[in-house]
Amino acid sequence: MAGKKRILGVVASLRPGGNSEMLTRLALETVAARGAETDIVYLRDLRIGFCDGCLSCVFGEGGCHHGDDVTWLFTTANRYDGLILASPTYLLSAPGQVKALVDRGVAELARSPGRREIPVGVICVAGLPGWDYLVRPMVNQLGFLLGGKLAGSVLGHAPGPGETLLDEPLLEKVRDLANAVYDDRRLPAPEGVCPVCYLERPVKAEAGGGPDSPGGDSLACPFCRHDPSRPDVQHRFTTASLLDFLTSWMLPSRERFLAHRHEVKAAVAKLGQGGPAGLGPAIGRLRPERPEPAGGG
Ligand SMILES: Cc1cc2nc3c(=O)[nH]c(=O)nc-3n(C[C@H](O)[C@H](O)[C@H](O)COP(=O)(O)O)c2cc1C
Repeated sequence: MAGKKRILGVVASLRPGGNSEMLTRLALETVAARGAETDIVYLRDLRIGFCDGCLSCVFGEGGCHHGDDVTWLFTTANRYDGLILASPTYLLSAPGQVKALVDRGVAELARSPGRREIPVGVICVAGLPGWDYLVRPMVNQLGFLLGGKLAGSVLGHAPGPGETLLDEPLLEKVRDLANAVYDDRRLPAPEGVCPVCYLERPVKAEAGGGPDSPGGDSLACPFCRHDPSRPDVQHRFTTASLLDFLTSWMLPSRERFLAHRHEVKAAVAKLGQGGPAGLGPAIGRLRPERPEPAGGG
């Protein structure tokens, strides 16, 4: 009989106890229950340098000059039979650490010609529906670079740490995604998105007010919400729109989170206990080895 499948979770959020971490753990617990061996990597444990365009990876002998953990991540990921990759949304897109890995990832691919393609399940978390336009295409791009095959890409919404654990339909989607990775099959993409990268197709704006639902017959830009037929409506990157985002959504989200923090705490506790760093025993935490700093501490 073939050995156990090995599935690795990669948490792109740097926020301990955040939604990316919790949903990754749920996905890993799901496949562990089917017999998989599971491990987890937090990008916050890695050193990730920015590509500086020197092209020594392309033209030089020794590869990338950054002596950091990016190669470790790519080679470690490829030793697994499947990946779960989870990321938050920052300003409609993926956070900088994801883009840094995308930029470095092409050179990493060049180091492993003929590598085995493995299924990747992508989980994106955003706080506010409609403010997530680029996150799936961006994180899926990293999924393609890390694993090669996209099993599916799930998007959930909740701003507070762990708060997505209260969204049962989302948890079901995460379990389905984890099972698809385990089975090495592809889930159908939802309606209205590119079936490869999941970029939303522009839709005709609905009649109605506000910068989040511009009226009129023209197509509003899905990214910045500029609508040529409505010069009175501000696009979302004007100072006023951004301040409105901050004051009418970001700041009050704290109170909304605090109102149900006890439920969130209970949901987190249910995820599995007993291992290091609050992880259940099914998930091992991986980190690159590095020498102890001189002098101890
Ligand atoms: C700097 C910053 C920018 C954010 N920008 C957005 C955004 O553009 N759209 C959105 O829906 N949520 C945004 N959020 C909310 C996060 O995506 C949300 O809290 C998510 O649950 C965080 O995931 P994590 O807990 O895994 O870190 C932002 C959060 C921060 C800290």
